[in-house]
Amino acid sequence: MTTPVRVAVTGAAGQIGYALLTRIAAGAMLGPDTPVIIQMVEIPQALGACEGVAMELQDCAFPLLAGIEMASDPNEGFKDANVILLVGAKPRGPGMERGDLLKDNGKIFIGQGAAIAKSAASDVKIAVVGNPANTNALIAGANADGVPNDRFTAMVRLDENRAKSQLAAKAGVGVAEVTNLAVWGNHSPTMFPDFEHAKIGGKPALDVIGDRSWFEDEFLGKVQQRGKAIIDARGASSATSAANALIDHVHNWAGGGATAEGDWVSMAVPSDGSYGIPEGLISGFPVSTDGAGTYSIVQGLDLSDYARAKIATSVDELSSERETVKEMLG
Ligand code: NAD
Ligand code: LMR
Repeated sequence: MTTPVRVAVTGAAGQIGYALLTRIAAGAMLGPDTPVIIQMVEIPQALGACEGVAMELQDCAFPLLAGIEMASDPNEGFKDANVILLVGAKPRGPGMERGDLLKDNGKIFIGQGAAIAKSAASDVKIAVVGNPANTNALIAGANADGVPNDRFTAMVRLDENRAKSQLAAKAGVGVAEVTNLAVWGNHSPTMFPDFEHAKIGGKPALDVIGDRSWFEDEFLGKVQQRGKAIIDARGASSATSAANALIDHVHNWAGGGATAEGDWVSMAVPSDGSYGIPEGLISGFPVSTDGAGTYSIVQGLDLSDYARAKIATSVDELSSERETVKEMLG
């Protein structure tokens, strides 16, 4: 039997955790031939609830589920983990922005970064979901001495999926027809879902829809504010769609789901200075992936003045978040 991949999930007893773990155990993230050991990591008060989730996972009798472990100490919970999903953090409530969570949530990622450096497998890959995801990933990476920085990513894939679904509905086509949709910048209302490069059925989305004002006046705000719309409607933040986007993020990166030739997906990754985005900031970019653990920022896209201005606003916000947490950066 293939050696199981160890997947550690923080916040395993939370909303997203509940929607996520069954999908991982069923093979949706790492593929139908890869057994997994799930390492649930929770605060001590939630370990009882974790036991319940573990019982349910057992009761699903997933053939790929090779083990379930749980811990409250991340040094133990991340032991030998190949994939670490940092979900555990407070969600925002009505009237808050995700950035308002920085003071409470940021500190979680200091100790978790150090624990990754100490305990995880040498090939570890990290995806941060807990908000504000980009800057929390920055904090974790800065505290993980010896772990290559490019292993620290944050999730903007939910924003990509939301944008694709809006475009498909507007064009009256299936969502698979929508490609090349990059989300640049921060997972916040300043994000830029790049409709100028998006394609529908292989043609520029702008030409297919034929009305630029719809993109600027409706599409953009709808995608940027979708998280809030869900909180207003459900009284709680997105969970199933967040878990699904995280499955997509890791599947493309390391679960066998290489991007198709000419297409890309959105990941927030440490900037190498591409497109003038300051080095080190964890920003949404278009990336191509090989499905086997490597991604690279797509180069050479021609950005209009409009796109550059939108991206600059979001990147300025990331710089200011970095300034706010400078004491947490090791
Ligand atoms: P939730 O409150 O239902 O669950 C969070 C869980 O994290 C809880 O069980 C809590 O006990 C646990 N937790 C808190 N601190 C922890 C720690 N130090 N170690 C381990 N576990 C810890 O929240 P949720 O709905 O699952 O959302 C989790 C986070 O994901 C929130 O910050 C939310 O804003 C964020 N989120 C991000 C995106 C995105 O697109 N990036 C999408 C949806 C939600
Ligand atoms: C989302 O985009 O749904 C999440 O980031 C949750 C939130 O606070 O909006």
